[in-house]
Amino acid sequence: MLASGELGSDLSPSVTCIIADGALAEFTSSIATELQIPIIFLQVASACYMWALFSIPSLIENGELPIRGEEDMDKLVNGVPGMEGLLRFRDLPSYCRVSDVKDLILQGVVRVYRQCTQGQGLILNTFEELEEPIISHIRPHCPNIYPIGPMHTHLKLKLAKKEVSSQSSNSIFETDKNCMTWLDSQPLKSVMYVSIGSVAVMTRDELMEFWYGLVNSKKRFLWVIRPDLYKEVEDGKNVPVELLEETKERGYVVGWAPQEEVLDHPAVGGFLTHSGWNSTMESIVAGVPMICWPRQSDQQVHSRYVSEAWKIGLDMKDVSDRKVVEKMVNDVMVERREELVNAADEKRKLAIKSVGEGGSSYCNFDRLIGDIYKMNEKPCMPSGTNEYVVDKH
Ligand SMILES: *[C@@H]1O[C@H](CO)[C@@H](O)[C@H](O)[C@H]1NC(C)=O
Repeated sequence: MLASGELGSDLSPSVTCIIADGALAEFTSSIATELQIPIIFLQVASACYMWALFSIPSLIENGELPIRGEEDMDKLVNGVPGMEGLLRFRDLPSYCRVSDVKDLILQGVVRVYRQCTQGQGLILNTFEELEEPIISHIRPHCPNIYPIGPMHTHLKLKLAKKEVSSQSSNSIFETDKNCMTWLDSQPLKSVMYVSIGSVAVMTRDELMEFWYGLVNSKKRFLWVIRPDLYKEVEDGKNVPVELLEETKERGYVVGWAPQEEVLDHPAVGGFLTHSGWNSTMESIVAGVPMICWPRQSDQQVHSRYVSEAWKIGLDMKDVSDRKVVEKMVNDVMVERREELVNAADEKRKLAIKSVGEGGSSYCNFDRLIGDIYKMNEKPCMPSGTNEYVVDKH
């Protein structure tokens, strides 16, 4: 469509700039180069994940990768600038868990993320007050970064100001709103919300460990069990009666929940999450402390940052044991509640400030719009204005 010139006319340039999803960085940048259109990448990942990935070639060069074995997992990684003393091998992007560093997926992911730093700009779904220490490491490689997150909150505020009535939701499935009625009847901050996102699956053993852990904690819980999370659980098949009975008393199971609303609900006091970036941002905006059970890709890095850098949750990485689940639920809901809630509330305020008028993300977004306008006035590509008109017929 771009190449056919269908989007413009001879007089007005067809396209000022491409904003491309970072996941498609390689293919979109070759189009941008071919057609001489400026390209800005939108990366919905965190800065800490991007930077960890960016550093992988140097970890291979300095011999820290490949990981030699289970005994190395708790050792600290030295070769990621800014993460010394924080990141363990266990916390590296999951793609690093391979014995051969020539692994195609690992190499492919690294390549795509590096490509994202090679456009005219890079939009990130994060905010400076949270990730500036890491963003500042990326800047020398990619000077023009626009952290405009948390995007879901940013969008909501912009829509509210314009008084546009638009339904926007982060949810990718149909949600079951009945759980909101159940939440309405629960005491303040008493419910642990459990969801491992839209993709991850569990083994039966893991599911049972979670279930016993939640029930044994004696805390209330709202649990998202997607129809495809674990096949044999439908209708309570194969689930011990004691679990079902206690769940009826203190728990509520849904197929998919309206997560932002759930996290905002006064009855919710904690979030057991897979640490996907959307979930992490949504939890931060709601000021809800987390228990992190990362599964793949960026989640390993996030859960480390949540627990050890931002101190707004606990990291349950690589463990699925009912005793640990029980203890962590009690830590978040009771034992360590105050410190976690205070830290989470701090981050919540910063997040909301960043997308409000004059905040960092708000200003970065304005700068992005301004820069796109400028591209229209004064092309930053070498040749003349009309080069933008791609007329191939
Ligand atoms: C994450 O949130 C964005 C909106 O901010 C949404 O478009 C996307 O589908 C969400 N991703 C997942 C995996 O839910």
